[in-house]
Amino acid sequence: MMLETTFPFGFEASTTFYLVLYVLTWVLHVAFMGYVLAGSFYVAWATVFPGKSLPPRSEQPICELLREWIPFMLSGAITAGVAPLLFVQIIYRQEFYTANLLLGWRWLMVIPVLIVAFYLLYLLKSRAVATWSLAARGITVAGVAGSFLFVAFCWTTNHLLGINRDGWANSYETGTVVAAALPLVLRLLTWVAGVFPVMCLIVAWQLAGRDSMSSSSDTPVSPPARALARMAIGGLLVAVISGTAYATQLPDSVRQHLLGAAGQAWLYAVGAGVVLQVFGWVHMLRQREFCHRTLSVISVASLVTLTGTASLREIVRVSQVDLLSIVQNCRSAADVGGFALFVVCLVLNILLVGVCLLLTRTGLRRQ
Ligand code: HEM
Repeated sequence: MMLETTFPFGFEASTTFYLVLYVLTWVLHVAFMGYVLAGSFYVAWATVFPGKSLPPRSEQPICELLREWIPFMLSGAITAGVAPLLFVQIIYRQEFYTANLLLGWRWLMVIPVLIVAFYLLYLLKSRAVATWSLAARGITVAGVAGSFLFVAFCWTTNHLLGINRDGWANSYETGTVVAAALPLVLRLLTWVAGVFPVMCLIVAWQLAGRDSMSSSSDTPVSPPARALARMAIGGLLVAVISGTAYATQLPDSVRQHLLGAAGQAWLYAVGAGVVLQVFGWVHMLRQREFCHRTLSVISVASLVTLTGTASLREIVRVSQVDLLSIVQNCRSAADVGGFALFVVCLVLNILLVGVCLLLTRTGLRRQ
């Protein structure tokens, strides 16, 4: 019965309920996290390689905007990470906690590393940094990007450890947390490359709202629309290649589920989403300015791609864990109740976040 129909259907209602919530909240986390991870890589690159054009890359709109917004988006990534963090503990209790314990000090380092990265991000926003030598600025931006890469590495390693039940005893004895380097590298590369189109899309919407961008047509600087389009297409291509290479590393039984009833529809959705995004960005490449209609199409395509990827990611995990135990976990969580309270808190939180954003926006406009 299970995994013989499109994921997440074919399970008990409680399992489907938690899987749906998990996938959707994780997609939200990826939107914020993508901005932070890809954005910090871009800022590091633009700072170390300022280019020959004037103004230097690090003072052009994309980089300035990223430096301004990454700290806020990091708060968003952390806040949006809490919901899937709760659901992953409900669904995959034993796998998740075991992986946490096996990761040991690396897992404990995630919070201090994020705190240091937070402070470095605010440092990057200060005027004083502009007066520093290239080496000092380079070390700072590399520190920020390196911190986020470390956090991403920890999440991916934790995930892979969780689904490798056969390797737990050996990992405990030897302290080795990476069972095989290639799948880890390919999976991590898929996330790192795959978040570039997400970051580019959000930045494009942000820049599209700025009137000043339309006046850039007679400057020698590559217009942001084209730079973002090139970056997004590059990220999509690398993510598709590394994601496919990662799939070749999976056991046959897992691949069968991806290609079979559980994953087929999602594979088509991801394929269509990627193709549509590439078309949208190629269209943007020919333009000097941002087109709202094109950005809307890319946004829908991106949402489909992310939801499809999140579902495929879950099929890979579900087909490697003890299915009966996750069904049991979800059933007992649902039996506890509290759904009405959950909905009330969800609505209240959405309203409160909305009010905070509105207040900030109004405050910024008045300045
Ligand atoms: C900017 C910092 C962060 C980065 C770069 C990051 C990156 C990632 C990546 C790459 C994954 C996918 C791992 C995989 O499937 O291989 C992931 C998953 C996840 N992240 Fe984040 N993350 C960050 C911060 C956080 C924080 C602070 C939280 C919690 C409050 C969080 C919660 C989660 C959860 C719950 C998952 C899913 C884990 C699973 O299903 O096994 N993340 N993150």
